[in-house]
Amino acid sequence: MATTTAKAAAIGPILITGGAGYIGSHTIVCLLEQGYNVVVVDNLINSSLAALDRVAELVNLDDAARKERLVFHNVDICDRNALKKVFETSPTFHACIHFAGLKAVGESTKIPLKYYHNNLTGTFFLLELMDEFGCHSIVFSSSATVYGAADKMPITEETTVGTGITNAYGRTKYMIEEILRDFYNSKTLGESGTTDWSVVILRYFNPIGAHPSGKIGEDPDGIPNNLMPYVAQVAAGRREFLTVFGDDYPTPDGTGVRDYLHVMDLAEGHIAAIEYAGKKEAGTYTFNLGTGNGCSVFDMTKAMGKACGHEIKCKVGARRPGDIATCYADATLAKTKLGWEAKLTLDEMCRDLWSWQSQNPNGYAS
Ligand SMILES: NC(=O)c1ccc[n+]([C@@H]2O[C@H](COP(=O)([O-])OP(=O)(O)OC[C@H]3O[C@@H](n4cnc5c(N)ncnc54)[C@H](O)[C@@H]3O)[C@@H](O)[C@H]2O)c1
Repeated sequence: MATTTAKAAAIGPILITGGAGYIGSHTIVCLLEQGYNVVVVDNLINSSLAALDRVAELVNLDDAARKERLVFHNVDICDRNALKKVFETSPTFHACIHFAGLKAVGESTKIPLKYYHNNLTGTFFLLELMDEFGCHSIVFSSSATVYGAADKMPITEETTVGTGITNAYGRTKYMIEEILRDFYNSKTLGESGTTDWSVVILRYFNPIGAHPSGKIGEDPDGIPNNLMPYVAQVAAGRREFLTVFGDDYPTPDGTGVRDYLHVMDLAEGHIAAIEYAGKKEAGTYTFNLGTGNGCSVFDMTKAMGKACGHEIKCKVGARRPGDIATCYADATLAKTKLGWEAKLTLDEMCRDLWSWQSQNPNGYAS
């Protein structure tokens, strides 16, 4: 791919915090393919530089093009001085997509301060520096977790947030949303009452799958916390069976129901968000990103069994504390405002997850 695209020549690069991670790496593929240049800041606490090497391969960036289009800084966003250096040494960023954060729900219950420190402090420094260096557009990775145990499905953006969140991780997401709104509002208090800041909050439902090439995907450290990476390891024979956490929920087959979406669809959602923020007047905007379909644990194991060609062995265990019965999105707002909707099917999600898992049985260390 050419070193400079017309788009990159016209606008500054996109700053991607946490870009070596699962969703970040897939989003970078889409950004590069669509002509953006990116600057990635990641401390690799839950990721590997190999992900970005594979991204460069997928987008055909040779060393010269990579130097210009996919710049990487091994920086902790909680290290203000190091983060400031990134701003000082880069062209003015067009926008920032803020993925960096710790995300293990169970661990956040055991070590909440680690989560509050990492996720909140990093965001404070990022916002201060964006303000100082003239980058006034941020897309933030929030989560359906902010809705807690919503009692009405599907969940719209109007559904109450903040109450009933069962873990520190979810509360960091809720708090950051509130901080972003306060920050934006503070910018409208000047004489003109206006600002050029725009804040887009994306509430992801359950991203799964991988790039269709199988070259990048989710690479959990140790025992996967989320259902589908675990199922993929059972499919590959790395784990013997899946423990299903409860089959006595008030759902069609008794297992938990979630809204799974393909990570490539989610990646495209970020491009739509950046473009929306660029076109629209300043403001704060919040969107659900999901398919609008609820799938049970058994729906998922069946679909994965079809993708890998054999049954996924399951054993039913007790409910897991903090889990809710059902959670799926109303993603109409993203469709009407962003022009985005999830297109890829459950079979495609499982096909691509299996392609990644079977080609990379030990993740990026394979
Ligand atoms: N994967 C999901 O199911 C899901 C759902 C909803 C929201 N989210 C949010 O989306 C974002 C991306 O998720 P993901 O699945 O790609 O996670 P991930 O762990 O794969 O990616 C996050 C990246 O952030 C980096 N990071 C963490 N703390 C950092 C710090 N202080 N400084 C620099 N880098 C740091 C990690 O090394 C990692 O590369 C996260 O904020 C997560 O909470 C994820």
